[in-house]
Amino acid sequence: MYTQRVLSGMRSTGALHMGHYHGVLTNWVALQHEYDCLFFVADWHALTTHYDTPDAIEHHVWEMLIDWLAAGVDPARATLFIQSRVPEHAELHLLLSMITPLGWLERVPTYKEQQEKLHEKDLNTYGFLGYPLLQAADILAYRANLVPVGEDQVPHIEFTREIVRRFNHFYGREPGFEQKAENAIKKLGSKKARLYDELRTRYQEQGDDAALEAARALLNEQQNVSLGDRERLFGYLEGGGKMILVEPQSLLTKASRVPGLDGQKMSKSYHNTIGLREAPASVTKKIRTMPTDPARVRRTDPGDPEKCPVWQFHLVYSDDGLRQWVREGCHSAGIGCLDCKQPVIDAVLKEQAPMLERAKPYQEDLALLRSIVADGCEKARKLATETMRDVRQAMGLSYS
Ligand code: TRP
Ligand code: SF4
Repeated sequence: MYTQRVLSGMRSTGALHMGHYHGVLTNWVALQHEYDCLFFVADWHALTTHYDTPDAIEHHVWEMLIDWLAAGVDPARATLFIQSRVPEHAELHLLLSMITPLGWLERVPTYKEQQEKLHEKDLNTYGFLGYPLLQAADILAYRANLVPVGEDQVPHIEFTREIVRRFNHFYGREPGFEQKAENAIKKLGSKKARLYDELRTRYQEQGDDAALEAARALLNEQQNVSLGDRERLFGYLEGGGKMILVEPQSLLTKASRVPGLDGQKMSKSYHNTIGLREAPASVTKKIRTMPTDPARVRRTDPGDPEKCPVWQFHLVYSDDGLRQWVREGCHSAGIGCLDCKQPVIDAVLKEQAPMLERAKPYQEDLALLRSIVADGCEKARKLATETMRDVRQAMGLSYS
């Protein structure tokens, strides 16, 4: 099977916290074993809302990349890059803007929502309106099939699909091309179909030119294939073929299980976070001082875990035995809140220790980090360049 491509990005607007780790990053780490993964820092997207504080962006970019590596994203498996280092995103954004109706952008729910939420900022800008289109360009430049995102981002993926359909309507291939090509393969008969699939995979995944030649020869030998099917099979073989942009699907990321220190969702704007690479002493202090069931004013007052944010942490980190100990000890005032918090502190520190360890080499040697990212940017750029060649041609811009 042709390996599906996964692409996702994160805006570089601040240090990542344990909510990001449990929500997004553990998911990325799992995906990198199954798919061809591209992960990038969306620094241009950061500018759409933080255009007035450009100084902070660079620092956030490198820190975010270290956070990813610390979480276990493996540069040997996934391609890590920075959006602004691949100017093809901007070119595709521009070209797609030609066919993007203003109303589509104005109707994306995040547009009004974010403007209202960040009302202290002037987001009546061209760049902010175009946010989802830039995101579409990010995805389409790589012909990504799957885009892991949180629920709030699903409308952006849906918007991307609509843009693809509109693009294909103006410049692309026949509707249902892929299905028609698959049907045409079946008509070859099972043995030849299998051979065609194998050769196509070898060509598309490894760029094996001999496989391409062999597949072409196979098609040329076929007597009883209709002209239309021949066209489709030749086009499908080369992947690019007639298929210029690909409709992506969202891969919904489950919300993080880790609550914030106050029991609300962990979020920078609530000031209730534990940093992904926060120093152990600081993590310890934050948990030791976090609020508990307000009924437990004195050590001798009984409490109720259901009314306590610490309990939410036990639900994430503790086994049944420990939870039983908490429930009994809390209701009977048999344990104090600091006793109750200690296993949580231990568990969080234990989870973070390997992350701090993995981050070390990059913190100590920024050149190492830069070279990994430079490789990633180069790889990404190669892929995006291929797509842009097809897009320019389809839009009548391939003069030479
Ligand atoms: N808008 C995304 C977010 O805020 C970040 C992002 C930018 C993105 N480009 C992307 C995510 C492309 C997935 C694919 O989370
Ligand atoms: Fe919360 Fe634990 Fe204190 Fe009960 S004993 S109030 S669960 S911290």
